[in-house]
Order: sequence, then structure tokens, then C-alpha cells
Amino acid sequence: MKTILGLSGSLRKASFNAGLLRAATELAPKDTRIEIGSIVEVPLYNGDVETAEGLPAAVLTLQSQLQAADGLLLVTPEYNNGIPGVFKNAIDWMSRGEGLKLFVGKPVAVIGASPGGFGTIMAQNHWLPVLRTLKCDLWTEGRLMVSRAGGLYDEAGNLTDDKTRAMLGDYITGFAASL
Ligand code: FNR
Repeated sequence: MKTILGLSGSLRKASFNAGLLRAATELAPKDTRIEIGSIVEVPLYNGDVETAEGLPAAVLTLQSQLQAADGLLLVTPEYNNGIPGVFKNAIDWMSRGEGLKLFVGKPVAVIGASPGGFGTIMAQNHWLPVLRTLKCDLWTEGRLMVSRAGGLYDEAGNLTDDKTRAMLGDYITGFAASL
């Protein structure tokens, strides 16, 4: 069984991106399990805290999930045409301590959803220098920008649009096949 660690960069309960990730777990091929990790308990990065106390428990959990995973799926919102701070903060923490080497060579895929017309294309581009610096193996065969998300989800943030679910299924199948 292949394993993918999936992270949503939104803390919102009815998040379009968290909903996209949940749908991905349902649409993954039979030989692949997407484990959803959580960034909710990750504190703001503080070098003094790291020196005094080491890595926070939530970060250690994410690191061990990443270590056990064959691939990483980042489901990114877009804020002001960039990566939301909470998401970048979580990855920054994860890269500390023993974490840096966990990213090296790790297959990573990036998708995202937004209510706007460009579906997180700018945020996805902002991940590129980060993933290069972490020496990840970025999967580029597929792309998925979910735009106009407001019409594609139910009120609880579940992805209900059949066409988008089909595109997501193809995307995940392609990424999983590369692992
Ligand atoms: C946004 N949003 C947004 N959307 C977008 O497509 N491009 C952008 O540059 C921005 N900028 C932006 C800045 C800030 C501070 C906020 C709070 C929001 C809208 C954003 O896509 C929307 O809130 C999504 O619903 C966020 O993703 P989740 O929480 O639904 O996963």
C-alpha cells in the first residue's frame, strides 16, 4: 500500500482546501491511502522556543507522518497571491531538527482551491522556491487549480461537483502512479 501525507493549508472548518483533500482521500486508487495531517496545533515558529523546548508535539507528529509517507500532497489556499502564512509556518517548523532530510527527494504534489477565477495558481507558484530549497521531487505531470469554488461545494465544505471530482481523481491517480 502506498501512503500519501495530505496537508490542507486552511484552518477553516468548511475550507474548500480541506474539502478538496477529503475528496482526494475518497478518490485515491485502491493501492494508495491518503493520510490527512493537521497543521491546526502548530504554533508560530519561534527560534527561542525551538532552542529551549525543541520541536512542538504537533510538528513531531507531522514529521513522523512525512517520514512514513511515500509522497506529500499540499492543498494550498491562496492569500494575497501567495502562500498563507499558517501553511508556510507549518512547513518551516517541519523542516527543523531532523525534518530537513525528510523532504529531500520526497515526491510532492501541489493543488488548491479558491473562490476566484485563477484557482490558487499564484500560491502554487509560490511553493516552487520552497520545494526547491527543501530538495523535494516535485510532481509536475498534472495540475489542478479549482477556481470558482463557491459553486462546487456543499455548506459543510464537501466537494460535490462531479467534474471537479473527476479531475481530482485523475490527478491523484497520476501522482500515486508516479510513487
Ligand atoms: C484571500 N482569498 C484569495 N483568493 C484568491 O484566489 N487569491 C488571493 O490572492 C486571495 N487573497 C486572500 C487574502 C486573504 C487574507 C484571505 C483571507 C483570503 C480568498 C480565499 O481564496 C478564500 O478565503 C478561500 O476560501 C480560502 O481557502 P479555504 O479556507 O476555503 O480553504
